[in-house]
Amino acid sequence: MGHPSSFATRYQTVLVPVIFEPWARELIRRARPRDGDNILDLGCGTGVVTRMVAKAVPAPGSLTAADHSPEMLAVARSLAEQAGLQADWVEADAGSLPFGDGRFDIAFCQQALQFFPDRPAALRELHRVLRAGGRVACCVQQGLERNPMLRAQAAALDAHAGPQAGDAVRAICSLPDGEELRHLFGNAGFRDLRVESTTLFVEHPDARAFAEGAMGGMHTGDKLSGLGEAAITQAVEAFLSGMEDYIDGTAMRVPHVSNVVTARA
Ligand SMILES: C[S@@+](CC[C@H](N)C(=O)[O-])C[C@H]1O[C@@H](n2cnc3c(N)ncnc32)[C@H](O)[C@@H]1O
Repeated sequence: MGHPSSFATRYQTVLVPVIFEPWARELIRRARPRDGDNILDLGCGTGVVTRMVAKAVPAPGSLTAADHSPEMLAVARSLAEQAGLQADWVEADAGSLPFGDGRFDIAFCQQALQFFPDRPAALRELHRVLRAGGRVACCVQQGLERNPMLRAQAAALDAHAGPQAGDAVRAICSLPDGEELRHLFGNAGFRDLRVESTTLFVEHPDARAFAEGAMGGMHTGDKLSGLGEAAITQAVEAFLSGMEDYIDGTAMRVPHVSNVVTARA
C-alpha cells in the first residue's frame, strides 16, 4: 500500500481527480473569481483549487495557497512548476496566517475546515485577510449517514485495521452540521452567509481500482501499511461490499454530500 511519505502523491493521484476536482469546480462556479482578483486557497493540499482557478481566470491579481503540510505543498509546487503556473505556495497554520489585513478578494477553503484544530481562530484569520466585502467559498463534508462511500470505508477499516484507522475517515465528517457552520462563520464576522447542502457524485469506471487506491490514498494507507496482504484485500472487499448499492458492473457512482458555505467579509 506504499510508504507513508508518499501520502501526498497518492492523495493527488487517486483522490483528487475523482473527489476534489468536482468540488473545486463547484466552489469556483459559486465564487466567480475574475481577472485582477487576489485569491487565497486555504488548506490547499496538493493545490487542486488553485490550479483550477488558474484555468478559469487567465489574469488573476495573485494566486496564494496555504497549507501546514510541507509534503502536500511539495506536490502542489511541482505540479505548478510543470504547468508553468505562477502561485505562492505558503507553509502556514490556518490559525495564524502570514498575510496582511485585507490582502485577498476571494478565499477558497475546500474540505479543510473540519481538520483545523481551532476552527474559530482559523475563520477569524480568514476574515482578517479578506478585504471588506471579499468573498469566501468553503465546502465541508456532511456526516457518514449521508456519505455512503465514507461510511463503507470507515466500517471496512474499523473491522480490518482497527477503530483508529476508521477514525481517519470519521475525521473527514467531523463538522457535519450546517447550523454549526453558520455560527462559526457568523461569529468570525462573515455576513451574507449561505449554507447549502450540496450533493455531487464520486464516479469511477472501475470501483475496485478506486477502492484499492482510496484505501492507500488517504491517511488510512498509513494505517493499513502495517497489515499483511490478506488483511488489506479483506479490507478492500469490505469497502466494495459496503458500496454495492452504488456499483453497476464495474463502475461506481456514489453521492458525496457537503455543506457549501458562501459569505462576505
Ligand atoms: C482533505 S485535504 C483538502 C486539500 C485541498 N483543499 C483539496 O481540496 O484537495 C485537507 C488539507 O487541510 C490541511 N490542513 C489541516 N490542518 C491544517 C491547519 N491547521 N493549517 C493549514 N492546513 C491544514 C491538510 O494538510 C490537508 O492538505
